[in-house]
Amino acid sequence: MPASPRRILVTSALPYANGPIHIGHLVEYLQTDIWVRFQRAAGHDCLYVCASDAHGTPIMLRAAEQGLAPEVMVENYRREHLRDFTRFHIAFDNYHTTHSAENRRLVEQIYARLQARSLVEWRNIRQAYDEQARMFLPDRFIRGTCPVCAAPDQYGDSCEACGATYSPADLKDARSAVTGSTPVQRESRHLFFKLGTFEAELRRWTAGGRLDASVAAKLEEWFAAGLRDWDISRDAPYFGFPIPGETDKFFYVWLDAPVGYMASFENLCEARKNTKHPIEFNDYWSPDSRVELYHFIGKDIAYFHTLFWPAVLAGAGFRQPSGVFVHGFLTVDGQKMSKSRGTFVAAATYLDHLDPEYLRYYYAYKLGPGTEDIDLNLSDFAARINADLVGKFVNIASRCAGFIHRLAGGRLAAQLENPALFAELSQAATGIAASYDAREFGRAMREIMRLADRVNQYIDERKPWVLARDPARAAEVQAVCTDGLNLFRLLALYLKPVLPHTAARVEAFFGAGALAWADAASPLLDHPIAEYQPLLTRVDPAAVTRMIEASRPPAPAPAARETAVTQPAASETIDLDTFLRADLRVATVLSAETVDGADKLLRLTVDAGGEQRTVLAGIRAAYEPAALVGRQVVLLANLKPRKMRFGTSEGMLLAAGDEAGGVFLVTPDAGARPGQRVR
Ligand code: 2FM
Ligand code: ZN
Repeated sequence: MPASPRRILVTSALPYANGPIHIGHLVEYLQTDIWVRFQRAAGHDCLYVCASDAHGTPIMLRAAEQGLAPEVMVENYRREHLRDFTRFHIAFDNYHTTHSAENRRLVEQIYARLQARSLVEWRNIRQAYDEQARMFLPDRFIRGTCPVCAAPDQYGDSCEACGATYSPADLKDARSAVTGSTPVQRESRHLFFKLGTFEAELRRWTAGGRLDASVAAKLEEWFAAGLRDWDISRDAPYFGFPIPGETDKFFYVWLDAPVGYMASFENLCEARKNTKHPIEFNDYWSPDSRVELYHFIGKDIAYFHTLFWPAVLAGAGFRQPSGVFVHGFLTVDGQKMSKSRGTFVAAATYLDHLDPEYLRYYYAYKLGPGTEDIDLNLSDFAARINADLVGKFVNIASRCAGFIHRLAGGRLAAQLENPALFAELSQAATGIAASYDAREFGRAMREIMRLADRVNQYIDERKPWVLARDPARAAEVQAVCTDGLNLFRLLALYLKPVLPHTAARVEAFFGAGALAWADAASPLLDHPIAEYQPLLTRVDPAAVTRMIEASRPPAPAPAARETAVTQPAASETIDLDTFLRADLRVATVLSAETVDGADKLLRLTVDAGGEQRTVLAGIRAAYEPAALVGRQVVLLANLKPRKMRFGTSEGMLLAAGDEAGGVFLVTPDAGARPGQRVR
């Protein structure tokens, strides 16, 4: 135990319960879990709570799409998320939901306190309304043409093409993403939290060194721009908590989401009530609490956690966070995660192919305390794990353990052969601990691997495999391997926050209890060890490729894909001239063949009336090439030639098809001639 153990409460952002956890989410949960595990190994009392973020319009609409009550969908995802997190060894003390009795009670209490202090007020605002769906539309549910760069199909609040931000009212040809209808402006009464009155309080809170420099600088920008009061209500229909005393008014999801941290903690207090480790809600949340409170979040939600949240807590008479730790986003091979590239990998898909500890180590290796994005480089991933964890770390144990069994009856020697080297590794504990505590995980990993190099170098110099050839030197072999294994044990301790599963197997191998930071001080001597079992295997780069392949959406047949892209929304019409711009012609298939390396494509040569075209069509699953020869088809002849990996496609064949499967080529009645226009 450290001289004065700290009491710490830690949270990660609450994931929305409307889709699976993916490797982008995992950056945060793994970062938090590593930090929490380090604090616990260092002897501190560190609790980690999280929950599902259950409310809001997207959740309500997603549940409707799935034909489920939102409560049911949210609970399904909550269980699925917790299962995935657990398989990644993320060790929450509690995983609750914001759609809970505790959360409702706390949100109502906070509202009552804010009301009593006149920190909220009702105001009328005008907002986009979908008359067909009979609902107000959040900005993200309005699509239209960017008022700045004219890019089509942009969100109501910002343009992905030029980065401009604007109000939905400025969007050209705005339409509802729910029904496709044109929204109208409608007035409604909304509840505002007076954030503006908290500026001095927030400046004081920020000045307390609770934020990293780049986040503090961002806050300065926000202060300079002025703090705008915050709309914390939404109109029905809405999945959330009703505002007491009102009809058809709900608290906005972003008000009750962070309160979910408190609610999950309260739920944990209840669960611990009659146990040996009871905890008191007020010890953790009263304004004079001595417990440290840290929120790990992504940079996209810093505004909510560094302005709204501390202000709401202060306004409602609760303690404020001791720190907000903000990380960047994940990129894969230097690019945003993408479904079509197969880099939007679900946690469950990752687990189908790879060991969770590989990702834990890779992220730790890449993570620092800042808000820079971290890149998962897919070829570097396998190389890094194989070089560091397999080549350097577990290699030490596999080089030494066998000799202890063969030549020393499975018992470690009574003293170290090279106490200076043990001391060197042991003394590194302080620096490594400081790196973990400061979220400098990359620095910690590099230091641990530098030490692993030192140990391997020592074993290379002492060459136990050469010594073992001489029966008279058995004691020397035992001594060298005792040193090697003790040094390995220190490295396992240092890696324990990152590799908890491997560390547990190392602990079983040594049979001397759970490794704690204090164990860095003393070697394990004159002690039996268990049979050595291989700890980690090399990453097979083919497994990484298979994972990416499994994450790609199944390719729709090109005909169906083209239809999807060009098909106007049901409510839109096109004029005849637009239709006539498509040069549709009857064509006869002259030859058809499979395409090496493309299991969905056929390469066809067609006669389009005096000219031949090569067309690559995604119809292999539906047609035998030989059966197509001589058949008449309809060719879109003025489609811009498309360069594909397997050659250029000079047109497209018309076919029916949809996600449900099946491709059906369109064929004119008998008698049509190649080259004839199709109208
Ligand atoms: O951005 C998000 O994914 C939110 N669900 C995070 C909520 S964090 C907290 F405030 F609850
Ligand atoms: Zn734009």
